[in-house]
Amino acid sequence: MKATISHIKADIGSLPGHSIVYKPVVDEVEKYVKEKGLETSLISDYRISHIGDDVQITMAHARGTDNPEIHELAWNAFKAGTEVAKKAGLYGAGQDLLKDAFSGNIKGMGPGVAELEITPRKAEPFIVYMMDKTEPGAFNYPIYKMFADPFSTPGLVIDPNMHMGFKFEVWDIYNGKKVYLSLPEDTYDLLALIGSKGRYVIKRVFTKPEHEKLPDENVAVITTDKLSFIAGEYVGKDDPAGIVRIQSGLPASGEALEPFANSYLVSGWMRGSFNGPMMPVGMNNSIMSRFDGPPRVMALGFVLKDGKLHGPEDMFADVAFDFARNEALQMANYIRRMGVFEPHRLPDDDMEYTALPKILEKLAPKFEKIEDIGEEKEIKMHK
Ligand code: F6R
Ligand code: MG
Ligand code: MG
Repeated sequence: MKATISHIKADIGSLPGHSIVYKPVVDEVEKYVKEKGLETSLISDYRISHIGDDVQITMAHARGTDNPEIHELAWNAFKAGTEVAKKAGLYGAGQDLLKDAFSGNIKGMGPGVAELEITPRKAEPFIVYMMDKTEPGAFNYPIYKMFADPFSTPGLVIDPNMHMGFKFEVWDIYNGKKVYLSLPEDTYDLLALIGSKGRYVIKRVFTKPEHEKLPDENVAVITTDKLSFIAGEYVGKDDPAGIVRIQSGLPASGEALEPFANSYLVSGWMRGSFNGPMMPVGMNNSIMSRFDGPPRVMALGFVLKDGKLHGPEDMFADVAFDFARNEALQMANYIRRMGVFEPHRLPDDDMEYTALPKILEKLAPKFEKIEDIGEEKEIKMHK
């Protein structure tokens, strides 16, 4: 029998700025999911967690992906939490609930959604990753390493069940198109795309048909709900989450964590407009402080058995990730010195906030022609 894991997340208000969720709000979301989801048998189990200003709902059920009742449950739970956030006067209360009324599918309404419909194995271990102050493309690098880089995941070389590689679904989020690439054959094509992490994002990973234990299965999924495109204007970074199934012909738990053993640079951080280091943290450190960050990732480990979730284990709470945290803090210090200069500040087109158009408008009458610059050169400089 098939089972579904649905992970749905939203920023519905935080304390004091965009820093950390407010416990009574999280409690209200939990109460709603328990009463209207678990106790009515709509879902078979759930867990609520949070990172930074985002509340995260992980649900197990048997209704498949894109199920209107499951999406409505999450939507209404966030609505209930928003009421508490509004009463408390929280900053950004209801921020990610962009529409007034639910209309059948939570996608495109603000919250981030990652869902997997699976054929559960005898033991079904998986990890839910949650990131704050960054964008979905921040998953490109670690997902590539987990499922395609043998220096990070040696199972690709030494486990006969993984040796055939995996299939990647990549989205062009600017054009609303997707492409499937089969690795290792298409490795360089994949890398040519996903290095542009603001545009091409890994949406899903599948096993190949020849996988001996789990043929043609969806084994990883990332949220790709780009808030700025949905709302037509900036309403907050899209702060992605992802689900990765592990073990037995898939990346081992440790192989699925290894890409985070060193920090790497992502876009987001302050005002969604800066490059900064990704820092793996345990649940106790899921507060956004310095310069509204630095961007963070949490990894919660679960197993699913007969519709019930066991866990979470707080994987990055381990001291083994202290090095990555220290490295991230050193990188933060280094890059912060650059103030508003690129490459700390993002290029103009990628910034979520910019005062540039107004500044250019104001300065337009003051701009003078540079006499000793040729026409041709002028054209080249303005591509
Ligand atoms: C980034 C983020 C924060 C805010 C910043 C300014 O994703 O959420 O860094 O952009 O705190 O917020 P406002 O403009 O709401 O005062
Ligand atoms: Mg926010
Ligand atoms: Mg957030």
